[in-house]
Amino acid sequence: MSDVVYLNGEFLPLDQARVSVLDRGFIFGDGVYEVIPVYSRHAFRLAEHLKRLQRSLDAIRLANPMTDAEWVQLIEEVIARNPGEDQSVYLQVTRGAASRDHAFPKGARPTVFMMSGPLVTPGREAVENGVAAVSAIDNRWLRCDVKSVSLLPNCLLRQGAIEAGAEEAVLFRGGYLTEGSACNIFVVRNGTLLAPPKDHLVLAGITYDVVLELAARKNVPVEVREIPEAEARGADELWLTSSAKEVLAITRLDGKPVGNGKPGAVFKIVHQAFQEFKRDVMRRAA
Ligand code: PDD
Repeated sequence: MSDVVYLNGEFLPLDQARVSVLDRGFIFGDGVYEVIPVYSRHAFRLAEHLKRLQRSLDAIRLANPMTDAEWVQLIEEVIARNPGEDQSVYLQVTRGAASRDHAFPKGARPTVFMMSGPLVTPGREAVENGVAAVSAIDNRWLRCDVKSVSLLPNCLLRQGAIEAGAEEAVLFRGGYLTEGSACNIFVVRNGTLLAPPKDHLVLAGITYDVVLELAARKNVPVEVREIPEAEARGADELWLTSSAKEVLAITRLDGKPVGNGKPGAVFKIVHQAFQEFKRDVMRRAA
C-alpha cells in the first residue's frame, strides 16, 4: 500500500486521493499505465518505460501531459516519499472527467495518478521450483501492444488460472503463443530461446528486452518469431517475464511437467545474469 500518492499536481496520503466518478478511466477504461520496478531507490529502465508510455498515449490519441524530464522528477519524488528501498511505481493517465459520451470530450484535463508500493519479487521457492500455469485462448482485443487500463480480459484470464490452482495463464491466439495475462512468455527448445515478436498481439515488455539482451550476452541462441502452440506445449523450458516477476520458470502447464518439471539450464543462466545485471546497473546509478 502506498503511503503518499501523486494526483493531478498534488502529493497526498492514499486515503485522501479522490477522482471524479465521471473520470473516463472509471467509466470507459479510457487510459494507459506503466508499472516501473525500483531497486535501491532507482527506477529500472525508466527511459524505456517512458518511451512505452508515450507509445501508449499516442495509440489512444491522448497528449502526454508532461515532458520526460517532468515525469522523471515526479517519479523520483514519489519514490523518495515512500518507504522501502525496492518499490513498484504505478502510474496512470486517463482522458479525465467529462459527461458520459463515448467520443472524446473537448477540453477535458487528463487525470495523472501515481503510487508506489513494495516491490515483491518471487521468493526462493518460486525461483528454485518454478510455477504452474494453465493455457487459455487469448480473447483480448487486437491492440495488446497498448498498455491500457482496460484490463478486464486480463483479470478474467488471471482469475481462471488462480481458480485452476496456477499462477498464470499462457495465452494462444489462432494457434500461436502470444503472452501471459500480465507477463511475456518465452520458450526454450533444444537450447534455443524462442520469443514471440513484439507486434500488436503482445505488450512490448521492458523485461522481455532485458532478457533478450542478457541471452545474447551469454551466447544463448535466440529466435524471435511466431511460435506455434504445439512448439510451446513441447517446450523444454517455459519462462514468464515482467517487471514484478523478473524472469521465472513455468514448470507445469495444464498439470503436466514442462521439460523435466524443473527450471532448466538456460533459465538458470539468464536468471543469474538478470540478478547480476540488476546489481550492476544499480551500483552504477548510486
Ligand atoms: N504487467 N504483458 C502484459 C499483458 C503485461 O501486463 C505485462 C506487465 C508484461 C510485461 O511487461 P514488463 O516487462 O514491462 O513489466 C507483458 C504489469 C507488471 C502489470 O500490469 O502489473
